[in-house]
Amino acid sequence: MHAPSSNRYTVVAILLHWAIAGLILFMIWLGWNMDDNEARFQLHKSIGIAILFLSVARVLWRWRNPPPPLPDDMTPWEKRLSHGVHVAFYALMIGLPLLGWLLVSTSSFQISTVLFGTVSWPHLPFTEGLKGGVVHDVTEFLHSKGAWVLIVLLGLHVAGAIKHEFAAEEGVFKRMIPGLFGRPHSPPPAQGYAIAFGGAVLLFAIIAAVPLMKSSPSAPASPGTTGTVPADEGNWAIDPAASEITFTGTYQKKPFSGTFGRWDASVLFDAEDLDSSAIEVEVYPGSASTGTKLYDDTIQGGEWFDTNSFPAVKVSLINIAASADGGYTAEASMLVKDQAINVPFDFNLTIEGDTATFDGRTTLSRKALNLGQQSDPGGDWVDDSVEVTVKGSATRKE
Ligand code: HEM
Ligand code: HEM
Repeated sequence: MHAPSSNRYTVVAILLHWAIAGLILFMIWLGWNMDDNEARFQLHKSIGIAILFLSVARVLWRWRNPPPPLPDDMTPWEKRLSHGVHVAFYALMIGLPLLGWLLVSTSSFQISTVLFGTVSWPHLPFTEGLKGGVVHDVTEFLHSKGAWVLIVLLGLHVAGAIKHEFAAEEGVFKRMIPGLFGRPHSPPPAQGYAIAFGGAVLLFAIIAAVPLMKSSPSAPASPGTTGTVPADEGNWAIDPAASEITFTGTYQKKPFSGTFGRWDASVLFDAEDLDSSAIEVEVYPGSASTGTKLYDDTIQGGEWFDTNSFPAVKVSLINIAASADGGYTAEASMLVKDQAINVPFDFNLTIEGDTATFDGRTTLSRKALNLGQQSDPGGDWVDDSVEVTVKGSATRKE
């Protein structure tokens, strides 16, 4: 006869068991039903990473709080089988999320992972050269088949629990359910909260800090002096607080819009001498903010603006000419990554005394700019055309 304190799992172990079991079953269903729905992919990745850290906590907890010994009336092979299933479960609880993480890290679709819409999750290191290759295909196979292994194990696991409950044996089920439903619950004294949960949270925090540290170098070395018209040679100073560059587009049929938080312009403009007027703008796409973290992170990724290698997009307004309606026509000559294109850019400009107000717009094609052409060349998710609007005011320099 076991003392009540020794034949039960701790409350923490019970909670972790059922939370992880429920999440895993939901994840298998979700994995099979993601279709092309990006929100479901993000949810799958978010819950999967949560399972990874709950499982890390669970393993650490188990180390500090060993499970109760199996009932004496189980035969040795039953004990071995039960133990084997548990070990395999732990391997899958950690292994499936790791495979999923490797899967998205090696995908040729460089889609960012933002956990529950808030925490930017990095890709695994050293996966740069593996994108779209055989490692990805093998990982995809293992991740998908791993779910089936889990289902088979679950069959054995549940069969075992039922058999031991209803055969004339001591039973194990009551060990894993809260006292409410079983015998009065007197769990063994628990210890190691800090190790189990502190350890899991610390590991999570270290990994989550990686993207935060990476995002800082996209700031320009010396703002305002990077254009080919040095800022001090321009005859107009842009008023940053009153000026903005915004963009709008469509993502899965829903409109989105955003603002570039950081850009520099140098403006040499004389309405009487348009030929020698020149407007240079450098826009930092890493500063784009749409209100949705997933979009902001994706914009910075390799197949989009690749802001680690190309922090700035350079734009020069050339061929400025007065149009019949009192506005101006021009061409925006842009360098996006290593892609140079020219697009028409019309703008209005009103000068009153020493203050100029302006607004202009253009429509850009993602295909022409080579943005997101691996994961979405046909514009199935993000529409090919993105409209960019510039407006603001400037003051004449002395
Ligand atoms: C315990 C955790 C997880 C379980 C049980 C699970 C289960 C599944 C299942 C059943 C599928 C469908 C496979 C198929 O179509 O045959 C799937 C697909 C997928 N999972 Fe997971 N997953 C887990 C964690 C993760 C994590 C952490 C990530 C990424 C961070 C991830 C990324 C993916 C992706 C990208 C797919 C689509 C694969 C494809 O067909 O291209 N999974 N998952
Ligand atoms: C995906 C779902 C599940 C997973 C991954 C899972 C995993 C595990 C693991 C790893 C253990 C061993 C704990 C340890 O000793 O460290 C365990 C124990 C247990 N599980 Fe599950 N489980 C799942 C679902 C279920 C279900 C549906 C039942 C209900 C019949 C169940 C009943 C039990 C019982 C009764 C024990 C205690 C066994 C014992 O005392 O040795 N589990 N489970």
